[in-house]
Amino acid sequence: MVAVQIAARGVRHPRVLAALASIPRHWFVPARLADAAHDDVPLPVGQGQTISQPFMVALMTAALEPRRTDRILEIGTGSGYQTAILAHLVRRVFTIERLPDLAQAARRRLAELGIVNVEYRVGDGSLGWPDAAPFDGILVTAAAPSIPAPLTAQLAPGGRIAVPVGDLALQELVVGVLGPAGLATRRAGGCRFVPLIGRHAFPENF
Ligand SMILES: C[S@@+](CC[C@H](N)C(=O)[O-])C[C@H]1O[C@@H](n2cnc3c(N)ncnc32)[C@H](O)[C@@H]1O
Repeated sequence: MVAVQIAARGVRHPRVLAALASIPRHWFVPARLADAAHDDVPLPVGQGQTISQPFMVALMTAALEPRRTDRILEIGTGSGYQTAILAHLVRRVFTIERLPDLAQAARRRLAELGIVNVEYRVGDGSLGWPDAAPFDGILVTAAAPSIPAPLTAQLAPGGRIAVPVGDLALQELVVGVLGPAGLATRRAGGCRFVPLIGRHAFPENF
């Protein structure tokens, strides 16, 4: 999976590739889908949500330029797969999921893998996690109409953010770096995510 679907397609960050190689993706998908766990596709994880495609996980993780000392905020815990990859790479991960059952299942999976450097919260991640801010990086794993303002406000100077931006039909990964003149963004390619539902995102009935 790592060599053929990720490195060969352009993500060459050595620590990110090592993290992808060391976290068993089949652990995070329903047992009936285990045979497809290493295909480069998103898979259903229940409640209408998905575990993201491995290439996209790699691309977004590399965009954060993760350092061992970083504190990272992730919005959209989902299965916990992306959380586990981040936890492998940085000092501490703060992850928020709006659906309690998914959050609980993810927490159990990571505990079983012995991953202990993660803080979990159930709630609206479009508000960020103000009492734990600032963050060296913020990763949003659901699509928002624009980068939620509270998230930019919770970035440390030099902090990086990656957010799929768009509607259900058309989305683009937007990567930002907070510099002295504000958030400098670049577009990092098309993507397809479930919607971010929250106060600074799409409404509940979207
Ligand atoms: C594509 S899935 C995440 C995939 C996940 N990163 C993984 O590796 O399995 C998007 C997740 O975002 C969650 N979500 C949507 N809106 C949210 C919000 N405002 N706050 C927190 N989580 C949200 C969804 O419930 C869903 O679990």
